[in-house]
Amino acid sequence: MKKILIGTHNKGKFREIAYLLSKKYKKISPISLKIPSPKETSKSFSGNSKLKVNFFSKFVKYPVISDDSGLCIKSLNNMPGIYSSRLAKKHGSFTKAMIYILKKMKIKKNRSATFVCSLSYKHPKKKIVNVTGIIKGTISSKIIGKKGFGYDPIFIPRNYNKTFGQFSKVRKMKMDHRFLAFKKLKKKIKTL
Ligand code: IMP
Repeated sequence: MKKILIGTHNKGKFREIAYLLSKKYKKISPISLKIPSPKETSKSFSGNSKLKVNFFSKFVKYPVISDDSGLCIKSLNNMPGIYSSRLAKKHGSFTKAMIYILKKMKIKKNRSATFVCSLSYKHPKKKIVNVTGIIKGTISSKIIGKKGFGYDPIFIPRNYNKTFGQFSKVRKMKMDHRFLAFKKLKKKIKTL
């Protein structure tokens, strides 16, 4: 069976990327190979996504797929953005980071936000293929829903009236920023 390394230590992301990939791949996690995470030194989603796929590719001789993603809130100068995961670490949990965000949002009129995913694929000895998926929405006034991961419970996708945290896992996986990026990637790499 063909192998692919899903270059992420985030279980929510791993589950989503594994779900999107063809069944013919055996999906390998860096955790099972004891591969550490690289330092995210870039200032952009695409820079970090490429840096991750390059890093993980050094450990295996088969294809690697990695993403860098995050929540960008318009009235907070697109924060937390590339710092989405680091904000949760700084506050001690995603719940605490979401409480912090909701407090900041209390005085804001504009609640527009986007979830961004920069997805990179690397076949050994070939160049990186990189694509971006974006989903628009708004920030809820409360933390609602227990089904997703990360910032799902405060993001309401456009044209819906519930948060990603209230969607079933499968429904969310079939519409989010990672799905939109994957759709673009699959046009370029048909075997995925
Ligand atoms: P990184 O790409 O590893 O730097 O982490 C991105 C962070 O953004 C994750 O830890 C989550 O907090 C957040 N994030 C990315 N995608 C999603 C999503 O689909 N739902 C909720 N949070 C997400």
